Amino acid sequence: MNQKQRATITAVDHYVPEKILTNFDLEKMVETTNDWILERTGIRERHILEKGATSDLAIPAVQGVLKQRGISAEEIEVIIVATVTPDMFFPSTAAIIQDAIGAKNAWGFDMEAACSGFLFALMTGARFIESGAYKKVLVVGADKMSSIVDYTDRNTCILFGDAGAAVLLEPTENLNEGIFDSILRLDGSGKEFLYMKGGGSLNPPSHQTVDSGLHYLFQDGKAVFKVAVKGMADVSAEILEKNNLAGKDVDWLVPHQANLRIIDACASRMGLDASKVMINIDRYGNTTDATIPMCLSEWHKSGQLKKGQTIVLSSFGAGYSWGAILLKWGI
Ligand code: UT7
Repeated sequence: MNQKQRATITAVDHYVPEKILTNFDLEKMVETTNDWILERTGIRERHILEKGATSDLAIPAVQGVLKQRGISAEEIEVIIVATVTPDMFFPSTAAIIQDAIGAKNAWGFDMEAACSGFLFALMTGARFIESGAYKKVLVVGADKMSSIVDYTDRNTCILFGDAGAAVLLEPTENLNEGIFDSILRLDGSGKEFLYMKGGGSLNPPSHQTVDSGLHYLFQDGKAVFKVAVKGMADVSAEILEKNNLAGKDVDWLVPHQANLRIIDACASRMGLDASKVMINIDRYGNTTDATIPMCLSEWHKSGQLKKGQTIVLSSFGAGYSWGAILLKWGI
């Protein structure tokens, strides 16, 4: 792309609630074992927000971003929130965050693309910056997954956790850093394998929808697993080829954290050593829209993520929706 400026991430932070739900806790709730969960998913524990909503996970992360960058909320121009668990259908969670932080000059909206929501939101924000229209865009990925999980269903309740994370996007004229490229995909023929059927206009809430559990997340794990392994690996390899890169040129793969076996398959397809893959699924489970920015935040804070490093973000989720983004770290 012939560009004068790129969008680059200039601050990143995350927040997880205090309460931890371990595999051993789940052993007491459903018929499962720590060994099964660890072996099949790589998850040991996840965090649960006991009181409050998704915005309560996002706001501390957003405030951390503002502090890190040393700017006031009034300087923010756009807020994009990727979530499948908005505080309410409307107003948007972006509006709730805007009010809470006092971003009185910002407009914004929520974006729903399930586990690929953060990638879709990041590219949307990046395009706003590249166009020259805006200089400070907040991109948030946050989900209170515990609000849509059935804790009597062992197929799903072991997988998910709650978290919020946020990045600030700004323009840079240094064309050696920032967001370089993306491949984003959507295939709605996957809609019946991972969904929440109730509560929307198809099945408005009623005693019957609640009694049938339609307000809970449903997943055909085996079906999603097969397509997720292929989809995430294909798109991650494709973005390297498209940019004449090989696995050796990549410093970090930042995969959506849904299952350690999917992550391993993706890394192996890219020819990447395990030491170059960000993995924190063991501590947080699948936090849907927060997984990727939360990895960036943790690795940035620990000093492992360094300016100039080449990074591939990669995701697969409901829809189906999937994609990969290539960037060079700029902070
Ligand atoms: O983030 C959005 C995208 N989502 C994903 O990428 C998730 C993709 N899917 C997965 O990660 C995996 O399919 C799961 C982790 C959800 C399940 O792992 P699996 O290896 O595909 O297991 P399965 O569903 O094929 O079940 C194997 C067996 C079954 O028993 P039978 O039929 O072989 O007797 C299940 O009933 O394991 C049983 N099982 C469990 N056993 C103990 C299913 N859940 C559990 C459990 N504890 N929690």
